[in-house]
Amino acid sequence: MKGIVFTEFLDMVEKEFGYEMVDHILESSDLESGGIYTAVGTYNHAEIVQLLTHLSIKAEMDPGVLLNAFGKYLFDTFLKVYPHFFQAVDNAFDFLKSIDNHIHVEVKKLYPDAVLPKFETHENENGTLVMTYTSERRMGALAEGLIEKSIVHYKVPYFVEKNTLNEDGSMVEFLISPQQ
Ligand code: HEM
Repeated sequence: MKGIVFTEFLDMVEKEFGYEMVDHILESSDLESGGIYTAVGTYNHAEIVQLLTHLSIKAEMDPGVLLNAFGKYLFDTFLKVYPHFFQAVDNAFDFLKSIDNHIHVEVKKLYPDAVLPKFETHENENGTLVMTYTSERRMGALAEGLIEKSIVHYKVPYFVEKNTLNEDGSMVEFLISPQQ
């Protein structure tokens, strides 16, 4: 997993819970990297899972809730670092459709070692955007936070319904519907 995910995660933890919490989760985890991350480096995905698990235990918060909050935080980082992806479209549906066929494609060109999720999108007859997330890394809650913040960004409200399609959470469906 790319270092930007780790550096931003630790920044969020510091802002929301303080430096002692950052220190605690780094100390409690068994990290190959030694807990030293640079934005362009690549690290074992299991490290973010350990950091999240220790945060969840210490803060007594659900890991899914924390991962969703991190998705929202990461959205703001992407907006700052890659503004052109957001300016290329003017609404949330076009933006969300562009992740799999444009944004993550460009990310992969920039960082060939990035391991990205798959998103299948289509609009149904009710004007709902159906977005299916597939990833062995099972970070559907991160996708949820990113989707929710994308909607806020484009300023037209939508309902987001999340359905986990299989037991291990590697396939998650999002139904994004216009609010009546
Ligand atoms: C400009 C916008 C975006 C950029 C530049 C971007 C870039 C990235 C990068 C660099 C990673 C890490 C890959 C790795 O660690 O190897 C990643 C992972 C991920 N991205 Fe994006 N992304 C963007 C928008 C989004 C949005 C809006 C969503 C929500 C649907 C999304 C969903 C995910 C998820 C869920 C992962 C975690 C990996 C996984 O679940 O397999 N991304 N993205």
